[in-house]
Amino acid sequence: MANLVAPNVQQQAVSVTRKMSASLPGLREIAAQRGLKVHHLGAGYPHPEVTDPRGFLEHQEAYFEFLRDREGLNDPSVLPEYLREAYSYTDTLGPVSSRQTFANVYGKDWGLTLNPEKLIPTVGASGGINLICSMFEHPGEKVAYITDAPTYAGFTARVALCQHATIFSVEMDGEGALPEVMRAQIRAAREQGYFVPFYYTVPDGHNPGGFSFSQRRREAILEVAGEEGILILEDAPYLYINFAAPADRAKPFFSMAPEQTVHLFTGSKIGFPGPRVGFLYSEAELEISEGKKVALSELALVESSSELLFHSPGALRGFEALLHEKSENQGQDAAETFIERQSIWPLAEETLVVYRENRQILLDVFERELGMHKAHFSWTMPEGGFFTVFTFLNTSTTEPVRTDDAMIEKMVMDHGLVVIPMYDFYPKDARERDPGAGMNQLRLSFCFSESAGQQRRDDMREAVEAFCDAAKSLVGIA
Ligand SMILES: Cc1ncc(COP(=O)(O)O)c(C=O)c1O
Repeated sequence: MANLVAPNVQQQAVSVTRKMSASLPGLREIAAQRGLKVHHLGAGYPHPEVTDPRGFLEHQEAYFEFLRDREGLNDPSVLPEYLREAYSYTDTLGPVSSRQTFANVYGKDWGLTLNPEKLIPTVGASGGINLICSMFEHPGEKVAYITDAPTYAGFTARVALCQHATIFSVEMDGEGALPEVMRAQIRAAREQGYFVPFYYTVPDGHNPGGFSFSQRRREAILEVAGEEGILILEDAPYLYINFAAPADRAKPFFSMAPEQTVHLFTGSKIGFPGPRVGFLYSEAELEISEGKKVALSELALVESSSELLFHSPGALRGFEALLHEKSENQGQDAAETFIERQSIWPLAEETLVVYRENRQILLDVFERELGMHKAHFSWTMPEGGFFTVFTFLNTSTTEPVRTDDAMIEKMVMDHGLVVIPMYDFYPKDARERDPGAGMNQLRLSFCFSESAGQQRRDDMREAVEAFCDAAKSLVGIA
């Protein structure tokens, strides 16, 4: 066999969330042998109750039938345009109608006119992260990304793939990343010879932070980013998984400063993750080599055309179907007529019902079981997203609780509890500054269980009760 040598290739560490999901079947078996029920407070997946595709497939079929009708096709042997397109090569930008529809509906929701020519289809938000990182990594110069401490594991994993890219992280308080620390980190990175293209964050329903940035903090961050001349990369999977009253919701960065933001939309959390539909949107212009000014969307498009060639047109058309609703008025031949939705909120509401209930169960059980022990524990109030961060304050005289791998394994073995430690979400530089970062914290999710309806509610309650019992016993409270 040939001896293949790749001397500069480094194997990247596997993230703790990936490790956890890989080891879950084994742990599940052990828990079952011990007569324990498995309680899911770990996985960040959309709930199966809201990702049953059958209703969607029917809706999509009816929408496609409507398109056929609109083309005036009565002869079933003639191939309709949407179907031809769904299985063909398309331009990298993909079907115009899908982008136009999304631009209309999303633009209305966030109060701006989106240019569909600047909507670059991506393979979910993950594809958007990859696309923008690749764009800035190609020149080969040392590149530093600014992000939160802690930050999304998928982002750190992507950055680790590029050996000349690194992270300068910024600590957060209850309102978001600290603007002056951000400024200092941008400057420190530049002093060390790095090019700093953007600050990556998840301002709504932060994963793993378990909270949303305040409006005031967003404005302060925008100011620093503007003064320092960097972009904001806004990852927005939970923009619509929002539990705050409409008047209390902060504005996404792209609605405040589209010329300074690269916004990543994904259909994964309000629709389905499987079709991998996402869009990158930005109105930013970049000064590139020889002082030339180009639209960032143009650069992203060229990047995408060599990386992806084009996104699945069938998946984009399916997403377009989701952005239409049945009209009250029937078409001429009784075929159903569809109209563009006025907003994505009602669509999101169908999934929000489940998350809102689960979240309330979690917060109610915490308050009931741990409310009188706030000297020992704290937890974040998620205004959006899937997660809360649970902190052991370690103020008692007992041995401090360390949320390391051994503790996580014990939670499964002794209590059937699947939880995720926070330490792995802290970028390397944050852990160097504070070796204890995240070592007393867990990320608990309230999005996933294996049951539906009343059983889901019961399972959620049981899971949180089991967690509270375990937490109390860890700090020595009877
Ligand atoms: C912050 C964040 N970004 C990106 C993703 C991945 O999203 P997608 O399925 O669109 O790639 C997730 C999924 O959990 C996430 O939480």
